[in-house]
Amino acid sequence: MRTHHCNEIRESHIGETVTLIGWVNSARDHGGVIFIDLRDREGLTQCVFHPDQNPELAALSHTLREEDVVQVTGVVSKRLEGTTNDRIGTGTVEVVASGLNIVNKADVLPFQLDKDLSNEDIRMKYRYLDLRRPRMSKNIRQRSIITSAARRFLDESGFFEIETPILSNPTPEGARDFLVPSRLNPGRFYALPQAPQQYKQLMMVAGLEKYYQIARCFRDEDLRADRQPEFTQIDIEASFVGQEDIIRLVEGLLASMFKAGLGIGIPQSFPRMTYADAMDIYGSDKPDTRYEMKITDLGDVFAATEFKIFRSTLDQGGVVRAINAKGFAGVTTGQMNRLNEIAIQAGLPVKTLAFIKCEGGEYKSPLWKFFTDAEKDALVAKLAIAEGDIVFFVAGSRESVSTILGRVRCECAEMLELTKNSDAYNFLWVVDFPLLALDEESGHWAAVHHPFTRPNADDADKLAAGDFANVRAVAYDVVLNGYELGGGSIRIHEKDLQAKMFEVLGVGPEEQEVKFGHILDAFRFGAPPHGGLALGLDRIAMLMAGEDSIREVIAFPKNNKGADLMAHSPCQIDFKQLREVYVQSTWKYPKAEKPVG
Ligand code: AMO
Repeated sequence: MRTHHCNEIRESHIGETVTLIGWVNSARDHGGVIFIDLRDREGLTQCVFHPDQNPELAALSHTLREEDVVQVTGVVSKRLEGTTNDRIGTGTVEVVASGLNIVNKADVLPFQLDKDLSNEDIRMKYRYLDLRRPRMSKNIRQRSIITSAARRFLDESGFFEIETPILSNPTPEGARDFLVPSRLNPGRFYALPQAPQQYKQLMMVAGLEKYYQIARCFRDEDLRADRQPEFTQIDIEASFVGQEDIIRLVEGLLASMFKAGLGIGIPQSFPRMTYADAMDIYGSDKPDTRYEMKITDLGDVFAATEFKIFRSTLDQGGVVRAINAKGFAGVTTGQMNRLNEIAIQAGLPVKTLAFIKCEGGEYKSPLWKFFTDAEKDALVAKLAIAEGDIVFFVAGSRESVSTILGRVRCECAEMLELTKNSDAYNFLWVVDFPLLALDEESGHWAAVHHPFTRPNADDADKLAAGDFANVRAVAYDVVLNGYELGGGSIRIHEKDLQAKMFEVLGVGPEEQEVKFGHILDAFRFGAPPHGGLALGLDRIAMLMAGEDSIREVIAFPKNNKGADLMAHSPCQIDFKQLREVYVQSTWKYPKAEKPVG
């Protein structure tokens, strides 16, 4: 239907007859001469209809409205001096129309495509229109480019692309499962995979050695800007590898994706930080290292303090730590309230964060009077407090202080717009994650990564002795600008060690047999050492596109209630259909929305 795309016409085409097809991006009437910007996926070309040359055609063109689909034939001409547009490649030429085929008229649109729209519900309801906007179209294109780059890199590195079942079993990745009732097996359910973890490990037992998949994963969890209920992983597993092999592979993979997507080079190898340091220094296992504001331990400053709260915290084995938000002494009351709110959400047991401001050469703080001169001097020196700074303190257990200050640190950075105009890509490996964490609610030990993660051999004694809190895992996360891009581990490949791990996690022999019998069985028949990682493709695409929500790089995302406002999913299912799959709902519909059937 076309000879060229709308971005292709150049002065070298002058005199040629071309046919273009696309949408009317804009239509203007200049004294009877009609100018149409015709748009397709690739770009824009100006088409012009002269009433003196072809009155009938000009009259027809006069009826065109934005977003009509039209096919235009004409001769490429040079634009008149002073009417060129140097923002687009086709800006010095136009197509003087000799034919116009109105392929399909468009109704008035629910919103203008050339304006940013803050109402996300409307964007989602008419997502197919939202995706016509250049920014969205660019995001989707970039995602496709980086996905193919990933495929190419992994293909060339000897990986096989292999699909795994979507109708599968519950997987212990830490979220709730989406369930699918089975009609052929009454009373039984499939679960949608939270990740293809067990299948990829079984592929290693199968001797396939190097696997990858652009894998859809499903997790019923609370949604955030970087979390969707269905999302995509670049899922990788390899045999006969150690942590270094996976790290090097993923660095190469990300380099190929950034080169393809943004045309930029990234460091050949990324800095590494232990989980313990990440938590102590940044209060996060995915630190944003584009700014400093590091958490500073004040144990030595207050070693001899008589200030009651600090004294009792330190005596009970807790810590006193602080961050210096440089230049933020002018924090507004509103901002301060927000910081307090965030700190409380993160576990601050009191209503307000303790602070010291340095303003007009004075230190202003409700705490200042409780410190000795020596403590004041040491504090100022250690935190390098200068005019205009504000320091936030938290006293408590090491973990809770990290969590609270970590959140406050991020929020201060946001308020100070420390990363607003940054084009830095700070990649980081966080290594030496703990293997297990005590779940406060259930009192059980839970896997920090997942139950298939290998304990660090150096901590075998601790594992045997039941000192679970101090056993490290051979697990690693790759982090970019404060986002967890991916996580992986070297796996357990020995049946006994895997069974022991389940036991520690409170999965008894019977439950092990029912839920994980297949993998324990597989490990009996010569399982190779193996490991891998999964990257969140949506998050990578989001960061490359400079967006702050993965919804902007997913063609048809769900909103934060897990709903698709365009397709009205999830929907009600009628009784008959439910009966067929042996499901009875206990949900009482409000009168207004009685189910059909
Ligand atoms: P993990 O659970 O860390 O590891 O997931 C890997 C990566 O997937 C992305 N991700 C998400 N992206 C969008 N929405 C979500 N709800 C969501 N959840 C996770 C993140 C994350 O880093 N099987 C293991 C991998 C392995 O061990 O090989 C796994 O799934 O970017």
